[in-house]
Amino acid sequence: MEALKQGFKSYPHSIHYALKANSNLSVVRVVKAAGGLVDANSGGEIDVALRVGYSPSDIVFTGVGKTRSEIEQAVDLGVKVINAESSAELDRIAAVARSRKTTARVALRVNPDITADSHPHISTGLSTHKFGVPIGDARAIACRADLQEELVFVGLHVHVGSQMVGLGPLRRAADAVVGLARELLDDHVTIEHVDLGGGLGISYGGEPVPSSGEYADTLIEVVRPSGLTLVVEPGRAIVGAAGALLATVVDVKPQRDGKWFVVLDAGMSELMRPALYGARHRIVIVEPNTTDPVCCDVVGPICETSDVFGIDCRLPLPEVGAIVAVLDVGAYGSAMASNYNRHAMPAEVIVDDGAWRLARRRQTIDDQLAWEE
Ligand code: LLP
Repeated sequence: MEALKQGFKSYPHSIHYALKANSNLSVVRVVKAAGGLVDANSGGEIDVALRVGYSPSDIVFTGVGKTRSEIEQAVDLGVKVINAESSAELDRIAAVARSRKTTARVALRVNPDITADSHPHISTGLSTHKFGVPIGDARAIACRADLQEELVFVGLHVHVGSQMVGLGPLRRAADAVVGLARELLDDHVTIEHVDLGGGLGISYGGEPVPSSGEYADTLIEVVRPSGLTLVVEPGRAIVGAAGALLATVVDVKPQRDGKWFVVLDAGMSELMRPALYGARHRIVIVEPNTTDPVCCDVVGPICETSDVFGIDCRLPLPEVGAIVAVLDVGAYGSAMASNYNRHAMPAEVIVDDGAWRLARRRQTIDDQLAWEE
């Protein structure tokens, strides 16, 4: 957060942390204390932001399928901006505002048809993806929204993908949106900001990634001539490296060819990224023994073949009971966890300056069953 603040400080901006990356109350409080505002992707995330003490004007509300009640919640609160995903959604927002005899601040999410050079599941900026309106249609939609009495049209929004390790796609998306803002100016539609989404990648395996400063410089360079305020919604870059998943080795068994399986008590129910995207996180044994490293596949206990954290890892063969740390799981780790196989959500702790405190207690089977008949 600090590095991003430094990077953007030479230009009018606001940094809205993408709550979807990790919305544990204790984590969001740390982000708030560091000066981050928030990007909410659902009514639930808006609720989390309010519980943490954010005011509605700190919240941008994004989301490809907003329900009627989520729109009502956002309009009633008067959030800073609702990033609309379609022309029809703008009409629905206007209708809710009309029914409340109020106005809603809106922006339009555009789809610039840009490839993010990231995993296909987390690329969002191609015309075949469900996000936003085609950039070619955006000018007319924005002009129409600007004329609607209940809408205060304040900005343009774009987010082309996540875990981007090059700045090219982010620059191209910014270029496209700033170009559109200029066209709108010709149409006498004046806006306050461009929201360039999130997407800055982190280094999961030691590969080079752009720094926060390089990221900020790139975006500022494109936006500065427009004079528009720059909004960003980083998630992973803020919390990704801050989290580790601690698991216990529950079995060690030989495979063919001298390889081993190391079976953990945590798997895709706790960390879905490897099974979902083939993501690879660094794995370390917390107190390794001194035996020579061997080749192992580190796997979870879930009944799915894709429940694998690491393939061909070279580790000193751990014993049952050893603790293994899976690194860089602060973003989209806990946030995407499930109770699959009736795994209980693990406890979470905040480690701060050598001390630790509970951020979430371990879920019990009673917690899980409490909402079932
Ligand atoms: N803004 C919007 C509109 C988004 O859709 C996202 C992420 C962000 C901001 C934050 O992006 P970030 O800075 O964290 O890249 N579960 C996947 C990532 C999904 C990202 C979804 N949208 C993963 O584990 O890699």
